[in-house]
Amino acid sequence: MINDIFDEPLVIECDNIRLRPIMEEDADDLYEIFSDDQVMKYYDLMPLKNRDEADSLARMFIRSLKDRSMVRWGIEEKSSGKLIGTCGFFCISELNKKAELGYELRRDRWGMGIMSEALSAAMRFIFTKTDINRVEAFAEVPNVASMKLLDKLGFVNEGTLRQYERCRNALIDVTIWSYLRIDGKY
Ligand SMILES: CC(C)(COP(=O)(O)OP(=O)(O)OC[C@H]1O[C@@H](n2cnc3c(N)ncnc32)[C@H](O)[C@@H]1OP(=O)(O)O)[C@@H](O)C(=O)NCCC(=O)NCCS
Repeated sequence: MINDIFDEPLVIECDNIRLRPIMEEDADDLYEIFSDDQVMKYYDLMPLKNRDEADSLARMFIRSLKDRSMVRWGIEEKSSGKLIGTCGFFCISELNKKAELGYELRRDRWGMGIMSEALSAAMRFIFTKTDINRVEAFAEVPNVASMKLLDKLGFVNEGTLRQYERCRNALIDVTIWSYLRIDGKY
């Protein structure tokens, strides 16, 4: 079952980073990440406006792990101990054996291979520990960094969903990507 993931110790050691559950103490670091309008540019959420909103976000991540609706890891940088991003799986469907992948990294760590390291580990983890069949991801058409990342991770671009969702007061095109168990990389 995909839900088996919630019974696993959710700490994954990588070379430069550690994936681990988000805690209330992460609110300051979450605020730095989620208040940056460049990080949030392609999200249908407004950047956080104050520290209270970061507290609520931390609590939402913690609650969603407890109620087994979402796995969102904090990406902890080993050299500094700082939380520099998050990643994980949501919209988990046991019936369809699939989940959606989400991720974001603080801006001053972009382009250093960090999210490739984090998501490779997360994908290995979920394909090893559960019977998931499909992971899907969505990227807005201009989000080249996200599309390059998905391509590098072995995802296949399944096409463009035209005027798929409202974002920043416009209906935008979104690309849909998937990785299947038969793709065999993880
Ligand atoms: C998308 C994001 C997570 C990428 O993280 P990252 O750690 O910088 O990515 P990596 O360094 O692992 O790069 C992965 C690949 O994408 C490429 N890439 C990264 N940023 C790029 C950019 N701005 N333009 C073109 N290519 C880019 C890298 O070159 C690399 O490919 P390569 O190894 O073949 O050279 C980061 O840009 C981010 O947090 N963006 C804002 C949040 C967001 O858009 N989340 C996704 C919503 S769908």
